[in-house]
Amino acid sequence: MTTKILFATLLALPLAIQPLNAQHDVAPAAPAYKNLTVLKDAPADQIGPAMQFISSSLGVDCAFCHVAGKMEADDKGAKKTAREMITMTAAINKEHFGGRPQITCNSCHRGAARPVAVPAVLETDAMPKPAAAPAAPGAAPTADQVLEKYVSALGGADALKKVASRQMLGKILAGGSETPIEVLTKAPNMRVTITHSTADSFTAFDGKGGWMGTAGKPARSMSESESAASSLDAQFHLALTVKELYPQLRRGRPEAVAGVDCEVLNGTAPGKPMVRLYFAKDSGLLVRMVRFADTPLGRMPTQIDYSDYRENDGVKAPFKWTLSRPNGRFTIQIATVKNNATIDNARFAKPAGDVK
Ligand code: HEC
Ligand code: HEC
Repeated sequence: MTTKILFATLLALPLAIQPLNAQHDVAPAAPAYKNLTVLKDAPADQIGPAMQFISSSLGVDCAFCHVAGKMEADDKGAKKTAREMITMTAAINKEHFGGRPQITCNSCHRGAARPVAVPAVLETDAMPKPAAAPAAPGAAPTADQVLEKYVSALGGADALKKVASRQMLGKILAGGSETPIEVLTKAPNMRVTITHSTADSFTAFDGKGGWMGTAGKPARSMSESESAASSLDAQFHLALTVKELYPQLRRGRPEAVAGVDCEVLNGTAPGKPMVRLYFAKDSGLLVRMVRFADTPLGRMPTQIDYSDYRENDGVKAPFKWTLSRPNGRFTIQIATVKNNATIDNARFAKPAGDVK
């Protein structure tokens, strides 16, 4: 199997029951692509994510444009059209949006191979709902006030600091099946998720880098962008450290998440994924985090919805979270939590050896 076929196989794998940061969409270091034209200047490790971006935007799989095992070949018309579309999209952005990637494949395609040019007709004779009026500009809280409310909703800074590790047992639900799972996490930023399937599988951040693997086999180090995302999930005291991580945290337009009105904060920082945090206006708790991975064609979102907050030792934590991407989704439901469990740092360390 050549590297390229392996890469293609990895990309094509559905995101079944991979915990938090599991992504099969990153190429091994610097694959030698043979036939790049419009994307020839993109970093090699962004070609895979760009291909996922195209597939998600058009709602197709790789075979729509590629012959398996011959990704460099141009035998399919759709691949040639896609190339023209990449050039067209770049031109629109250059000419009309100052070069910012405002228009992407998804702006027109919205999950379909053929964009729809005409507006939809009504499917029912019920009165169309008027668009919700924008919320009256009133006393808008500052980003700091939103974060302060979050910290106190969790139990307050002092209580949070008294808990420095957590062992969680539960299950992961994906594709209609349930698998037992263990999540170990320790301050400041170590985390490992162990899925007890036929063989144990791991998704971890050891404090410096992320890795994934299966018991008894060499593990794979995460790419830089996967690691950056993973390091965010590993932040044990995110409520207390988010301002350090994202000094540019700004208030965004309020939005509702599952019918709950939320304050929204947007964060950008060099070397970190752009994040959007949603805090319920009433409880103050974090109910959603969306982070974005850049690709040469647009941003790929990963959304995590937190719920079922429960209090243990004076500190609240979500017992349920659902991670959704354009190409995969799973839910983790925690049953039991042990705060300040003794967890050896070795539990987070990547086994020796690496996948080639
Ligand atoms: C809608 C069409 C389309 C889809 C779907 C698509 N690709 Fe591509 N792919 C392209 C185009 C166009 C290029 C060439 C880009 C260029 O010329 O710079 C390309 C190039 C590639 C290359 C580089 C090959 C080489 O050596 O030159 C790989 C690898 C690749 N795609 C993998 C994938 C995988 C894996 C998927 C599925 C996740 C996928 N592609 C989905 C259109 C597509
Ligand atoms: C400004 C709107 C617009 C944007 C942006 C856009 N497309 Fe398209 N695309 C179209 C339209 C319209 C068609 C259908 C043309 C037709 O029916 O002949 C199309 C057709 C296609 C097709 C052929 C589908 C088929 O059934 O054969 C491919 C492949 C494609 N686009 C890929 C892309 C990719 C990849 C991107 C992002 C780089 C993109 N498009 C961005 C409007 C757009």
